[in-house]
Amino acid sequence: MGVVVTDTYPAEDLDHDTAPLVAALRARGIDATATVWHDAGVDWASYDLLVLRSPWDYPDRLPELLAWLDHVEGVTRVLNPPALVRWNLDKRYLAQLADRGVAVVPTTYRTSLDDVRADLAGAAPGARVVLKPAVSAGARDTGLFRADDPAALALAARIVDRGGVVMVQPEVPELSAGREKALYVVDGRLTHAIAKGALLAPGGGLLGGVYAEHPEQVDVTDAEAAFARAVVAAVSDATGLGVPLYARIDTVDSAEHGLVLLEAELFEPALNLHVVPEVTDVVADAVQARVEDPVRSGAMAAWSRRWTRARAQIDALPRPVRVVAVAVVGGTVLLTGVAMLVLPGPGIVAILAGLAVLATEFAWARRWLERAHAAGRTGLDKGRQAWGRRRSAPAPGTAAPGAARHDAPTDHT
Ligand SMILES: Nc1ncnc2c1ncn2[C@@H]1O[C@H](COP(=O)(O)OP(=O)(O)O)[C@@H](O)[C@H]1O
Ligand SMILES: [Mg+2]
Repeated sequence: MGVVVTDTYPAEDLDHDTAPLVAALRARGIDATATVWHDAGVDWASYDLLVLRSPWDYPDRLPELLAWLDHVEGVTRVLNPPALVRWNLDKRYLAQLADRGVAVVPTTYRTSLDDVRADLAGAAPGARVVLKPAVSAGARDTGLFRADDPAALALAARIVDRGGVVMVQPEVPELSAGREKALYVVDGRLTHAIAKGALLAPGGGLLGGVYAEHPEQVDVTDAEAAFARAVVAAVSDATGLGVPLYARIDTVDSAEHGLVLLEAELFEPALNLHVVPEVTDVVADAVQARVEDPVRSGAMAAWSRRWTRARAQIDALPRPVRVVAVAVVGGTVLLTGVAMLVLPGPGIVAILAGLAVLATEFAWARRWLERAHAAGRTGLDKGRQAWGRRRSAPAPGTAAPGAARHDAPTDHT
């Protein structure tokens, strides 16, 4: 498999993730190599799986990146899936998530300079705003200004002139104070949180003149963990693309707006494994599961999407109720699976699904699930084949009468 990177990084923004990740994958017996996305000599079809990691020079060559995604998608499996990446490249996805109940930093999306001017004129006296393009990364063309600063409108004009969409937001002071929290969700599970420090200089441009994050591991509250999972569930719901392999949910707990989403980075988030080396194995395990378990892109993926949505609702419940809800749902599915071992049906699938549900709350279920994994894969394949056979066979009593009616006139001619 390939871990997709680029070949040069600025000194302030190095890739600290690929080397440990490749090493951890190799330790698991997976033939992983780092591979440069724009290397013309690479035969992408020779990879079973590509994991997008740090192709961080793409903003300057977006059309080339999109063409590359189209190509690799046609010849191999890519994670996160290119359809999810395309969706994620334009931050107007934030409006779709807001429609699904996710609290988002208040934002207007403007394609005309007059509308931006009206937004700025409507700001309170002395208020500060942030302007940014809808397609951006690394705080490119992102500026923090007083609303009446002519530089704000000048930045908007540059974005509009090249056909871009301007996002206008109130300054969230907690972000300027460096309290942005990146919550990482790997395969649906919260792994760690990183604060990256303040980035924008008042009056436009970047603090210190260059893009430099200062990652520090921070604690996660229950509310933040539930929020991150709810965002991932809303993403699955909006895209219909299942649980992403990795997601970085950037949040800020703001006095004025509450806990809100700044962006959901599903394409090339720095994982900061140098800050949290213990997460390397979690990511490698998740990749290994995908390498060995293509079932996840089939029927199981649809169920997993449904469960992710249900789980987000369960997260809103108080803890004792939540534990009971997970125990009841997971236990029922598990017992159904046990019953199916003697009755007809894909029992192993249900047992694993039940364990997966329970594993979101209970450590013992996580251990069972890990143990069941190797044995379960064989069972899953068998279950899937049985399921496929049953679905492709005509249901009794439906096809036959239709065929008879259709055949009847032919018999008389
Ligand atoms: N509304 C805002 N108020 C204050 N700071 C902001 C605001 N929006 C963005 N920033 C700062 O700008 C940085 C980059 O903006 P972001 O929306 O995360 O875009 P990207 O990371 O894709 O370039 C953030 O990490 C944050 O420090
Ligand atoms: Mg960001």
